[in-house]
Amino acid sequence: MKADKTGMHGVWASRWTFILAATGSAVGLGNIWKFPYITGENGGGAFVLVYLICILTAGIPVMMAEVLLGRKGRMSPINTMKELAGQEKAPQFFQGIGWMGAISGFFILSFYSVIAGWTLYYVVKMISGDFSNVTADGAGEIFGGLLSDPLLLTLLHTIFMVMTGVVIARGVHKGLEDGVRTMMPLLFLMLILLLGYSLTTSGFSQAAAFLFSFDFEHLTGASVVEALGHSFFTLSLGMGAIMAYGAYMPKQASLGKTILAVGFLDTLVALVAGLIVFSIVFTNGLEPGAGPGLMFQTLPLAFSALPGGQWIGTAFFILVAIAAWSSALSIAEPAVAWAVEKGWSRGMATFAVCGFAWVLGLGTVLSFNEWSDVTLWGKTFFDSLDFLTANIMLPLGGMLIAIFVGWFMTAESTNAEARIKNPTVFAIWRFMLKFVSPLAVLAIFLHGLKVF
Ligand code: PHE
Repeated sequence: MKADKTGMHGVWASRWTFILAATGSAVGLGNIWKFPYITGENGGGAFVLVYLICILTAGIPVMMAEVLLGRKGRMSPINTMKELAGQEKAPQFFQGIGWMGAISGFFILSFYSVIAGWTLYYVVKMISGDFSNVTADGAGEIFGGLLSDPLLLTLLHTIFMVMTGVVIARGVHKGLEDGVRTMMPLLFLMLILLLGYSLTTSGFSQAAAFLFSFDFEHLTGASVVEALGHSFFTLSLGMGAIMAYGAYMPKQASLGKTILAVGFLDTLVALVAGLIVFSIVFTNGLEPGAGPGLMFQTLPLAFSALPGGQWIGTAFFILVAIAAWSSALSIAEPAVAWAVEKGWSRGMATFAVCGFAWVLGLGTVLSFNEWSDVTLWGKTFFDSLDFLTANIMLPLGGMLIAIFVGWFMTAESTNAEARIKNPTVFAIWRFMLKFVSPLAVLAIFLHGLKVF
C-alpha cells in the first residue's frame, strides 16, 4: 500500500475545507433543536455538565480517532474497517464498526429528514407572516397542526430527502462546499443576534441558571446515558460520518487542532441555542420539558417581538435547514461511498440509500399522529429509533473505535497518521483512547442499566 494513497473518492481542497465540512456535519439539528429540548427534559444544568464532560473525555478523543482511521483507510467506513482490522490483526468483529455505522446512518437519516422537513415548513410560515404577533398558544397550535398532518409531514420529508440526494449524487465537493462556506458564518451571526435579543428578555438570567447551575438532584441514569449519546450525536461520531470525511482529508494536516476547532464550534452553537431557547421559555412561562417541539414553539415568539422579525425569522429557519442539510449529507455518505466502491454509480447508490431511508422515515412521520399510541417499551417509533441510535449504537461504535485505535494500533503507526507534534498532547490523547473514553462509555451504559 502506498503511504500517500488518496482513495477513489477524492480529497478535500485543504485542511480548512475539512474543518468546514466536518463542522457542517457536526452543527445541525442536534445543536439547535435537540440539545435544548433534551436539556429541558432532563432538568438543565447537571445534564449540561455531564454532556460537556462527555464531549471532553469521549467526544473529542474519539473524533480524532475516527478521522485518523478514515484517513488511513481512505475508503468507506465499511471497507476501511475491514482493511484496517486485518492490517492491525484485531479481532474480526472490529470490522463490524463499519456495518453498524451504516445501519445507524439509515436510522438517523430517516428521522433527521422528517425533522428537517419541519424547518422547511417554518420557512414558509415565516415568509407568509403567519407568525407575526403570534402568542405562545398560537405558536403551539401551529406546531400541533403540523404534527397532526401526516401528508404534509410526508411532503416536507420528501422535499428534504430529495434535496439531500441531489447534492450527494453530485459528490460532496461540487455540492455543498461553497454553500457551507457562506452559510455557516451567517448562521453564527443569526445566533449572535438572537442571543442579543434574549439578553434583553426577563427570562435570560433564569435561562443561564437553568443551563449552568449544576443541581444533581435531577440527574438520573437515563439522563446520563442521554448526555453521552448526545455528545456522540452532535459531533457526528460512532457511525462513520466523520470517518468518511476523514478519508478525504489531506495527508499532511495534523489532527489535534483541527478536531478541537470543530468540537469547540459545535459546543458553542449548542450552548448559545440553549440560552436563546430557554430565555424565551422562561420569559413566556412555557414548559422547559416540552419535548421535540420546544424550538419550534419558542423561536417564533422571539421573531414576532423583533423589528423585522418576519424576515429575520425566515432567514433563520433557512439557515437551520441548511445546517440540517449539510449534516444529512454526512449521514448518508458512508453508505453511499460503500455502494460506489461496490461498483454502483454514485447516482444509483444515492437513490438506494435515500430511498430506503425515506421509507423508514414514514414511521417517524406516523409516530407524531396515527401511530402516536403505538409504543414499544413506552417509546414511539421515532423515540425508539432516536434512542437506539444516539444512546446505544453511536456510543458503542465510538467505544469500539477508541479501543481499536488505543489498543490495536501501535503508538508509532498512530502518530504516523495523526501527526501530533507535541508528545505530551499525543500521550494524553492515547491515554484517553485506551482508558478514559471506553471506560466512560462502559460506566455510563452500566449506570443507565441501573447496575450501579
Ligand atoms: N451531528 C449532527 C447534528 O448535530 C447529526 C449527525 C449525527 C450527523 C450522526 C452525522 C452523523 O445535527
